[in-house]
Amino acid sequence: MLVLGIESSCDETGLALYDTERGLLAHALHSQIAMHREYGGVVPELASRDHIRRVLPLLSEVMAEAQVQSPAIDAIAFTQGPGLAGALLVGAGVANALALAWNKPVIGIHHLEGHLLSPLLADAPPAFPFVALLVSGGHTQLMRVTDVGVYETLGETLDDAAGEAFDKTAKLLGLDYPGGPAVSRLAELGTPGAIVLPRPMLHSGDLDFSFSGLKTAVLTQVRKLGSTVGEKAKADLARGFVDAAVEVLVSKSIAALKQAGLERLVVAGGVGANRQLREGLNAAAKKRRFSVHYPDLALCTDNGAMIALAGALRLARWPDQASHDYGFTVKPRWDLTTLAQ
Ligand code: KG4
Ligand code: ZN
Repeated sequence: MLVLGIESSCDETGLALYDTERGLLAHALHSQIAMHREYGGVVPELASRDHIRRVLPLLSEVMAEAQVQSPAIDAIAFTQGPGLAGALLVGAGVANALALAWNKPVIGIHHLEGHLLSPLLADAPPAFPFVALLVSGGHTQLMRVTDVGVYETLGETLDDAAGEAFDKTAKLLGLDYPGGPAVSRLAELGTPGAIVLPRPMLHSGDLDFSFSGLKTAVLTQVRKLGSTVGEKAKADLARGFVDAAVEVLVSKSIAALKQAGLERLVVAGGVGANRQLREGLNAAAKKRRFSVHYPDLALCTDNGAMIALAGALRLARWPDQASHDYGFTVKPRWDLTTLAQ
């Protein structure tokens, strides 16, 4: 089955063609980071307009790269939510218009299900069941993934998402948006232990997270250091922040594996690209004998490949989820545990 995937939930337009026999045939992405940078964050209206500009050229690109013509496509999958309503509407509108014009079935996909399943695109994919650590700009969750569509929340953030904490810390340190990679790079120059920040909820006894206190701790340190803060102090602070965030994420992931009685951990979402987090999880996996799986770095952040894959897996199992009714809705808020099976 050949599925076209369209992702447009936030600031990346992603298109991909995934074939259940041959794997990922092509994927193309346009990131709006440069456009939003001068505003210090995503401007929803600009995001929607840019998706409109990019989506069809990217479609031509993936079809040319895969040497695929529309008759060969079996279904179209699009991100139906959660995300920015206007941005989602672009992908949903284009997916349904193409499906109507080409007489193909269409399926709406939950963005986080795409992230959760994205490690299955790797050369050595993990088997079900596994624990997934979902760490993105909008979400921080530990899930038990029993099978496609069977997801149980083990723990989640009570306030800021991990990516949001990286982004806000970056802002406080005067780094560019999006802050995750910039904070990570700066932390490499900092001295471990020079500034020690709190590890929120490390010993809470459950699998929930809280990152807003950590962000406030960064703010307090920035104020303490004053306006003349030097590069070294900034790097030490970035290091303190990253070490605290990583320790909490690693420790709760270990606890989640224990609670679920599983030995496979999958990491997904933008923060899954973080070098220090990967180092921390790899070290823990070696010590405690569990395996840890990551999507390719290029597929950690938002992309169309994970949406095409999720669509293909769903349609293979539940062919009746294919819709030929091209009146569409989007779901800016959508709980992952309520998905249809
Ligand atoms: O999954 P994603 O692309 O979009 C959402 O669905 O939110 O995640 C974006 C988030 C941003 O907060 C960004 O700062 C963070 O992932 N991020 C990182 C890194 N790369 C992206 N955070 C830490 N280290 C990175 N290398
Ligand atoms: Zn995402």
